[in-house]
Amino acid sequence: MRVAARGFSFEVEDHGSGAPLLLLHGFPLSSAIWDPLRPALTEVTRLVTPDLRGFGESDKPADGYGMTELAEDVTALADALGLERFILGGHSMGGYVALRLVAVARERLAGLILIDTRADADTAEAASRRTAALATIEHDGGARYLDGFVPNLLSPSTRDRAPRLLAELRAIAAAVPDHVLAGCQRGMLGRPDSSELLPRLDVPALVLVGAEDAITPPDVARATAAALPQATLAVIPGAGHTPSVERPIPTAEALAGFVRRHF
Ligand code: MLT
Repeated sequence: MRVAARGFSFEVEDHGSGAPLLLLHGFPLSSAIWDPLRPALTEVTRLVTPDLRGFGESDKPADGYGMTELAEDVTALADALGLERFILGGHSMGGYVALRLVAVARERLAGLILIDTRADADTAEAASRRTAALATIEHDGGARYLDGFVPNLLSPSTRDRAPRLLAELRAIAAAVPDHVLAGCQRGMLGRPDSSELLPRLDVPALVLVGAEDAITPPDVARATAAALPQATLAVIPGAGHTPSVERPIPTAEALAGFVRRHF
């Protein structure tokens, strides 16, 4: 359905009942990455999954792609949907956005789910990779950049086992215009370190990671879970950076189990 917030129109899937769970997709994807989890999760929760600004069917303004701005979109969407407190989950860039929401609107948070993401800012090495990505997007175009980047979203075993998933993610990414790809890369490059928020985040938390994630590996997830006062860790075998599409059954079980245990 369409939801108006901050002068823009967003596409949001909103199904089920119970404790609200807001899940934010990563870059350069859309709310479609949660589709494989929807049947299981809507049995235990009200599952709300927006297309973030610039992605899927949501508006794609010229700017506003900083992580805090994306987090402000999410609080405005929650206001528009009447969600005062919610469990918030974020996948990769969606996790960066979730942690910015924690920084600006901590009182809205009933629980936190971090999926294949990290709390710290870019290392010097990650920042130089991102600067190179920006140069590719600007000089060669987004399609060239995405051809190289999208395969990294899946584990090698997923790419062998289910090559259609690569085509599906590439098709989702194809809907993202170059100015959004570049804007988000700049937004991620400029994001602050959120690590200091973790020890004070005294809400139930789940940290989930694909066992074969090369972008945010299990060691990063383990350290994130250890820094959170009330976290459990779930490592999904056979999945890479995008467990919701690579291994939907164990991923849905981990998320649904977390909701059932705490809410
Ligand atoms: C994502 O999957 O959202 C991005 O790869 C995260 C990043 O580039 O840091």
